[in-house]
Amino acid sequence: MPPLGDRREAAGGISPSGGKGGQKITIMETAYINGKFLPKSEISISPDDRGFLFADGIYEVVRWYEGSFYDMDGHMSRLKRSMKEVRIEWPDADSFPSIAMELIARNNLHNLPSLLYLQVTRGSAKRTHAFPSPSVDPTVYAFARSFHPETDLIENGIGTILRKDIRWDRCDIKSVSLLPNILSFQEARDSGCYECIFVRDGLITECACSNVFFVIDGILYTHPESNHVLSGITRKNTLRLARNEGIPVSETAVPEKRLAEASEAFITNTSFEIAPVVTIDNNKVGKGVPGPVTKLLREKFLAEIPAFKG
Ligand code: PDD
Repeated sequence: MPPLGDRREAAGGISPSGGKGGQKITIMETAYINGKFLPKSEISISPDDRGFLFADGIYEVVRWYEGSFYDMDGHMSRLKRSMKEVRIEWPDADSFPSIAMELIARNNLHNLPSLLYLQVTRGSAKRTHAFPSPSVDPTVYAFARSFHPETDLIENGIGTILRKDIRWDRCDIKSVSLLPNILSFQEARDSGCYECIFVRDGLITECACSNVFFVIDGILYTHPESNHVLSGITRKNTLRLARNEGIPVSETAVPEKRLAEASEAFITNTSFEIAPVVTIDNNKVGKGVPGPVTKLLREKFLAEIPAFKG
């Protein structure tokens, strides 16, 4: 399951840099930094930035669907909540939707599936664990890039591994401190899989970069909102769609020992939307193919995207 950064293609204003016919083209990506839109190559950040020194920052990833952002309101609420929980202040946070729109426009992404990334750190200051005093401005960085939705994986399903949840106790905060996620995700990749499902105290929490759902005896289960999972925007909307379809839903953590009973599993996140899980540690989930509940929810998810176009 590639987090933003994998499998994306360069995008942006394409400006010729040479003569005609077979000449090289330079891709100029415009990004946003602290109130300015600049060519990405001209952006630099202080080595004293607390994002760099301490991973002292939070982030958001929003999907652009050729004409609209997916649930920008949901992303805005989570952004503000993350900042509040870590006590980072960005007074202009409400400008994010217009910054995002400007990045789409300046990088010619209007008609391409794209992802918007935003990171806010506690700013740049002499290194000490305490917050800077007097306080400094946050560092606000954002970029937009097109990407290829992984349609084969989404249609055929993904393999996963199951590992101990080695993360901290505040997984509800969308912190840029992602080392445990990265190590676990890479382990999945090294095993030829696309996501790592986490187990904490015998219960399934979520994955390295997605939430996870299981169908057991016709009931759709996912971990409740808590400090042990990120409250995914896709998770929230998937639950809403399931309830609308009359699918019995239970926001209850699934014990690891019940995994063999699952007839279906799927993951949810901004880039993959809803993607079937067909194996866990090489064991088939159900029949080892995407199941009917997963397919129905994916179909409903895609069908309502135009509704977000406002
Ligand atoms: N990851 N859980 C974790 C740990 C995540 O990192 C993510 C998203 C999710 C799903 O959240 P949402 O549906 O809001 O994307 C759940 C993003 C995509 C990333 O880090 O790139």
